Amino acid sequence: MTAKIEEKKKNPEEYRVIEAAALQIQEVEEFHHLMMKYRCAIKEVQTKLEVLNEDFSVRHKKNPIEAISSRIKTPISIVEKLHRNKWPVTPQSIYENLHDVAGVRVICSFVEDIYQIAEVLLKQDDIRLIRKKDYIEHPKGNGYRSLHLIVEIPIFLADKTEYMQVEVQIRTIAMNFWASLEHKVRYKRDIPNVNDVENRLKRCAEESARLDLEMQSINREIEHAIHPEYIIE
Ligand code: GTP
Ligand code: MG
Repeated sequence: MTAKIEEKKKNPEEYRVIEAAALQIQEVEEFHHLMMKYRCAIKEVQTKLEVLNEDFSVRHKKNPIEAISSRIKTPISIVEKLHRNKWPVTPQSIYENLHDVAGVRVICSFVEDIYQIAEVLLKQDDIRLIRKKDYIEHPKGNGYRSLHLIVEIPIFLADKTEYMQVEVQIRTIAMNFWASLEHKVRYKRDIPNVNDVENRLKRCAEESARLDLEMQSINREIEHAIHPEYIIE
C-alpha cells in the first residue's frame, strides 16, 4: 500500500469516495484494456533491459543489472492520484495524465552502470524519452537518490500500434536499500522522534552515496587488472 493511500485512510470519508470510484472504474471494459496495454509495455521495457544485460555480459564480461522488478499501479492508487489532482476518473484521463501506471525498477551495482543502462536504452529507435529526473546528480531534500525516466514505447496489437508510457527507476543496490527504509518512515509519520529519524536517514543517504562511489572506484581497479581490454570509458 502506498504512503498516499495510507494518508487518505486517516480521512475515512475521502477514502470511501476513492474506494467507490476505484470499484466503479473496474466495471469499465476500456479500463481493463488499458491496463493490459500497460502490462504489455512493461514486458517490452523489461525485455529490452534483459537483452542489454545479456549483451554486456557476453561482450564486456559484466552484468550491469542486478535485478529488475515491475509493478502496475493499483486501481485505488490510480484513482487517488486522479482525485488528488482533480483530473477526471476515466481511462482516457489515466492515459493522458498519469505517467507512472507502468513502473519498472532496475537495480544496478554501481552508479556508472545506471547511466550506461539509461544511455543505451534511450538510444534505441523505438524508445522516446518523455521526462528525465536525475535525483543522483540532484538528490531530493530527504536524501533520495535514483535516476527516473518516463519513456514512451510502442506496443504492437492485432489491429494497431499504441504508444504507452512507462516510468523507469534506475538505482544502485544501496540507493534501493535506503529507499525501502525511507518508504517505511513515510507512511508512519506518527513514529516517535520522526525528525531525528529523518535526519539520521539523510546522513545514511550521504554516507551510502560516498560508499557507492568508493566501491565503484575499487571495482574499476579490480576490473582493469582482470580484463584491461573490457573497460568501457
Ligand atoms: P509521484 O506523484 O509520487 O509519482 O511523484 P512525481 O510524479 O513527482 O515523480 P517522482 O519522479 O518524484 O517520484 C516517482 C516515484 O519515485 C515515487 O512514486 C517513488 O516510487 C519514488 N520516489 C520519489 N521520491 C522518493 C522518496 O523521497 N523516497 C522514496 N522511498 N521513494 C521516492
Ligand atoms: Mg508515482
